[in-house]
Parts: sequence; C-alpha cells; structure tokens
Amino acid sequence: MAAFHGKRVLITGGAGMLGSTLAGRLVAAGAVVTVLDGMLPQYGGNRFNLSGLLDRIRFIEGDIRNRALMRTCVAGADYIFNLAAQVSYIDSNLDVFTDLDVNAAGQLNLLEACRETGMRPRVVFASSRFIYGRIEYTPVDENHPRNCLSIYGIHKLAAEKYHWYYNVRHGLPTVSLRIANPYGPRQQMKHSRYGIVNWFIRLALDGEPLTVYGSGQQQRDYVYVGDVAEAFLMAALDDRAIGKSYNVGSGVGVRFREMAEMVAGMIPGTVVKEVPWEDGRYFIETGDYISDLKKIQQDIGWQPTVSLRDGIAKTIEFYRQHRAQYWSAPVASAV
Ligand SMILES: NC(=O)c1ccc[n+]([C@@H]2O[C@H](COP(=O)([O-])OP(=O)(O)OC[C@H]3O[C@@H](n4cnc5c(N)ncnc54)[C@H](O)[C@@H]3O)[C@@H](O)[C@H]2O)c1
Repeated sequence: MAAFHGKRVLITGGAGMLGSTLAGRLVAAGAVVTVLDGMLPQYGGNRFNLSGLLDRIRFIEGDIRNRALMRTCVAGADYIFNLAAQVSYIDSNLDVFTDLDVNAAGQLNLLEACRETGMRPRVVFASSRFIYGRIEYTPVDENHPRNCLSIYGIHKLAAEKYHWYYNVRHGLPTVSLRIANPYGPRQQMKHSRYGIVNWFIRLALDGEPLTVYGSGQQQRDYVYVGDVAEAFLMAALDDRAIGKSYNVGSGVGVRFREMAEMVAGMIPGTVVKEVPWEDGRYFIETGDYISDLKKIQQDIGWQPTVSLRDGIAKTIEFYRQHRAQYWSAPVASAV
C-alpha cells in the first residue's frame, strides 16, 4: 500500500460497496482520493459508506455521463478505479437504454476524458462474470465464450473492450477485473436486484423467509468485498496486468441453497423456502459458475482469503450495528 502514498486516485462509483472499501484503504495509505458518485437512488451510493472519510477526500456528487465533468475529474489522476455502474442485470434487460448510457457510453466518457486531456492514469475497470452468460464449463477461465444473457453483460463486455482499445490505441494503461458474486459490508440493502447474499441477510434480520428458486442447486462463487478490493489494488500496481482481463472470485463453488442455509444458520429462526422459478429470472440463470483464478494468481499473485462463512459473519455484524443507515424502504426498479 506504500506505493499509493501521495498518489492521486479517482474512484468512480466510490460511494458504493466496493468503491468505499477502496476509498478507506487508500486514504489509510496516504493517497489523495477523489470520489465521484452519481448517488442515483436505485444503486448503492450511500454517504454513510464514506463516514470517517468525507473530510479526508474530495467528494463529487456527479455522473460519469457528464463529459465536461469527467474531463475535470480525470485531470491529475495517477490511478482511476472505474466502478460507476448500473449494477442490476435484471434492470438492464428492462431498461436497456439506461444500461447503455451508464455502462457503455459513460465508460467511453471517462476514457475519452483521459485521451482528450492527455492523462495516462492506470485505470482498473470493474467488469463482471455476466460477460460469460450461459456457462459451458467450470471452473470458468478468461477464455470462456461470451454467451451474454443480459444487456448488462453485453455492455460490461463492450466497456472491457473500450478499456482494452484505449490501451492498445492510445497507450492508456487499463486492466479489467471480472467480479463473480461480491457481498459484504456497505452494499445497498434496498432491493434484491443485485447482491443476493446481502439481501438474504436483510430478510433474515427482518425475520422474513429466504426464498430459493427451484431446489437452489446452482453453484455460485461468492467473494468477499475486502478480497475484491485487494485484487483491485494489486492489479493497479502491477505492470503485468496492463491490457488484460482477469477473473476475481473465491474460486469456490457453493450451492445457492447452501449459501441461504449458511445465512439462516447464523440468524436463529430464519426459514429457507423453495419457490418456483419466475420466467424472467429463469432465462438469465447462467448455470453453475466458479471462477478459475489461475491467471490472476500467476500474473499478480492475488488470492482471496476470506471464507464465505467468515465473510457472512462479518457482514451480519456490520448490519446489526448500522442497520438504520441501510434499511430504507425497498426501492422499485427504475422502469
Ligand atoms: N455487486 C455485484 O453483484 C457486482 C458483480 C460484478 C461486478 N460488479 C461491478 O462492480 C462495480 C462496483 O459495484 P458495487 O457492488 O460496489 O455496487 P454499488 O451499487 O454499491 O456501487 C456502484 C456505484 O456506482 C454509482 N453510480 C451508478 N451510476 C452512476 C453514474 N452514472 N455516475 C456516477 N456514479 C454512478 C452508484 O451510485 C453506486 O454508488 C460496478 O461496476 C459493478 O457493475 C458488481
């Protein structure tokens, strides 16, 4: 972390779960941090995520779709963690143009702002496992076909390509990390359209049943936000990562039902209940997903350290303490 001391770091989407986790670590390392966040109500931006940091960072409430603003924000940056996104794959299929605006055009805005201002910061982009879509084999390596089942996956793939293009064409040092299923403290608890582990924790703390589609046998790769943040920091500092894309997950497959039962087991009285698949959700079910982590381990030396059980325990503890800051009434989809 000493490498970040005195460096100027921009975090787009920095009031969300991953961004605020990064902000905390970077401020502790002595970096000069700017957080840009649109604070759009459906997503995870929450000022409380930055509590204790707000007087030590520059906080800009603004949108990556604003071209002029992006030019100002990238000026002087040594590193950019580019996380601002419409995060729900479900909403992306219902409101395709918002997803296009934020997850594709917004990303181009940032990259163009770097080109236009002649800046060459290291850019680490938050991509997603959803670029792989329907899974043909596990563990999933970075060469797996892109069978996107959501507009979100398609735009994340496009944005990855934009980042790669600006590297090879304009010499901007970019890297993309394909995150599996992240969870942990500071994620939004307003709705279930992304972040299901967190949502189950909310339901369980509220005494509600945890509903599992079908028998819940599909495997997922749940990765703790602290581990994801570490991968972003390490990728930012490693020249071998430039121009590449890497999986970031736990590397462990856990059945959906097993995850639900783990949450239920830690919050006494919680019931797990099976319900039939809803049509829309069944279509976007990717099949078992487990990240193959060989490439990131070999190139960068990153590996996750927090087990699902420990990560869920830490997350429950966080929301028991800070529930009032996250339990707003469920927010409806933008569409
Ligand atoms: N949470 C997941 O399930 C998941 C999975 C894979 C990848 N990712 C990616 O990781 C990144 C971080 O996600 P997170 O889990 O911290 O989610 P989050 O919702 O907590 O954070 C995303 C942040 O982006 C901000 N944002 C949204 N649109 C914006 C815009 N137009 N301009 C500026 N800011 C905007 C939101 O206000 C929010 O604070 C995202 O790019 C997301 O797509 C997330």
